[in-house]
Amino acid sequence: MDAMGSEPTMQVPSEVIVAALRDAWREPGAGQPLYGSGPPLRPIAESEEDQLIPSGGSSPLWEIVRWMPAEPDGQALSPTSLSEAFARPLAFRLDVLGASRHALATRFTWSIISPGDVAWVVAQLEGRAVVEIGAGTGYWAWQLQQAGVDVAAYDPHSPGEDNRYCTAGPYTTVLVEDASAVKRHPDRALLMVWPPLGGEHARHALSVYEGDLLLYAGEGLGGCTADDAFYKMLNAEWELTSVAPRHVTWSGIHCELAAYRRKRGEHRG
Ligand SMILES: C[S@@+](CC[C@H](N)C(=O)[O-])C[C@H]1O[C@@H](n2cnc3c(N)ncnc32)[C@H](O)[C@@H]1O
Repeated sequence: MDAMGSEPTMQVPSEVIVAALRDAWREPGAGQPLYGSGPPLRPIAESEEDQLIPSGGSSPLWEIVRWMPAEPDGQALSPTSLSEAFARPLAFRLDVLGASRHALATRFTWSIISPGDVAWVVAQLEGRAVVEIGAGTGYWAWQLQQAGVDVAAYDPHSPGEDNRYCTAGPYTTVLVEDASAVKRHPDRALLMVWPPLGGEHARHALSVYEGDLLLYAGEGLGGCTADDAFYKMLNAEWELTSVAPRHVTWSGIHCELAAYRRKRGEHRG
């Protein structure tokens, strides 16, 4: 198998996980909450919230997420823990196949990218190219490249033993370099997805970036991504211009995909 745009052989193929999840919904009692008496859980794939992958595209994480148990989160549906919807032996079997949030995050990405997110990013870019730092497995870059976006992706740690957040991929070319790489790409929009909690590279990237469009997927101040200094700089120097309306986030994880423009008078370069 080639390392570009395909999955590693050591893991259960994503189609097998999708098939197992679809079968799980046919089990008696599937979707009945184990605790409490709330409404049954259903997969996104059986709701009006479903988002179809463009024909010819490959989006293995979204295929899996569509069949995970999901619960209401405002207007949207959020995938949740397998044990919320399936009896213990079945939930355990699915977990072993690799259908847990942690397995999917380390295999693909820490922030789910849906077809609606891809369309929203393309609209924000208005034809511009992207520089992504902390790209991990390269999954977001690969998804955007399928939509015709030119993405230069960087991460100082290749997936695998060198990177405790990312076990699979790369799904596309990810150059081995840290956040300093953005300095060379003032003409590209800066993309950062789920910089780790307490990590300094999001702030570092923002401080050396000379362009004016930031696309950011993560939690806000006090959440599980980046550090306080990053959010302080974001608030002071950048203006929120749009939030992706169809971004899907794991239950209990307040991940937002948003676009920011540099405020007037904050121009660099
Ligand atoms: C939680 S992972 C997120 C990866 C990917 N963006 C995703 O959505 O799955 C954080 C990533 O930040 C990377 N990272 C750590 N230090 C960095 C630095 N100084 N500059 C750029 N990236 C860094 C890690 O190697 C890791 O791949």
